[in-house]
Amino acid sequence: MTTSSVFASSPGPAPPGGPFDGDTLDHIAERLETEGYAVVPNALPPEHVNRLFLALKETPAADFRRAGIGRKDDFQLNRFVRSDEICWLHGDTPAARDFLSWMEALRQGLNRRLFLGLFDYEAHYAAYPEGAFYKKHLDAFKGRSNRVLSTVFYLNPNWQPTDGGELVIYNEADNQELERVLPEYGKLVIFLSEVFPHEVLPARRERYSIAGWFRVNNTAAGAPDPAR
Ligand code: OGA
Ligand code: MN
Repeated sequence: MTTSSVFASSPGPAPPGGPFDGDTLDHIAERLETEGYAVVPNALPPEHVNRLFLALKETPAADFRRAGIGRKDDFQLNRFVRSDEICWLHGDTPAARDFLSWMEALRQGLNRRLFLGLFDYEAHYAAYPEGAFYKKHLDAFKGRSNRVLSTVFYLNPNWQPTDGGELVIYNEADNQELERVLPEYGKLVIFLSEVFPHEVLPARRERYSIAGWFRVNNTAAGAPDPAR
C-alpha cells in the first residue's frame, strides 16, 4: 500500500502532545472508513520506537506467558492455534507509558473523526519464537466482545521478506487474502476487530509486536462487559 498520496493532501491540526499528526490521523480514519483497515509504516517517531524496543528487550523472560485462546471461562492453551508468548502492558516503563499515551491520542483522534465511541485500550507485548504462528482467527465476535479496533505495532529491526512472519489479512466474505504485511520496525496496523480474519505466518527469527484493542463500554448499556 502506498500512503504518500493521502499524506500529501490533508492538512489538520496536530493533537496536543500526541505523536500522530493530523495528516496521519486523517489517513488512518480514511482507510478505516473505506477499507476497514490501515497499514502505517513508520507510524511513530524513531527515537520513541527505539525506547520501546529497548524496554521490550529488558522485560524479564519470566514476565512472558504462553498466550491462550478464548475468554475467561473457556480460556485454554492451544499450541495448534497460537504459539506466541505475551506480557500485558501496564505502563510500568516510561516507554510503555509513552506507547499507551500515543494510543490514547489515537483513540481521541479516531473518535473525533469516526464517532466510534472508543472507550479504552488494552495491549500486550507478544514474542513469537522462531517458527511460532497464530492461525487464522477473529479478534472479536459480534455481540460477544467489546473489542472494536485491533492494533498491532511491530518492533523488528531490519526485518526481511525472507524472514516470513507476515500478518495476513483476509476478506471475511470470501476468505480472499487482502493484504500480507511484513512486521517491520515501527509499522502500525489497525483493523476492525469483528470484521477481518487474520493470521500470523511462522517466522524464521524471533518476532516482536505490541497487540492491542480499543474497546467500547458495553457495561453502560446494561450488558455485562465480557472478560477478554
Ligand atoms: C493477535 C494478532 C497479529 C500480529 O495478537 O491477535 O493477531 O501480527 N497479532 O502479531
Ligand atoms: Mn488477532
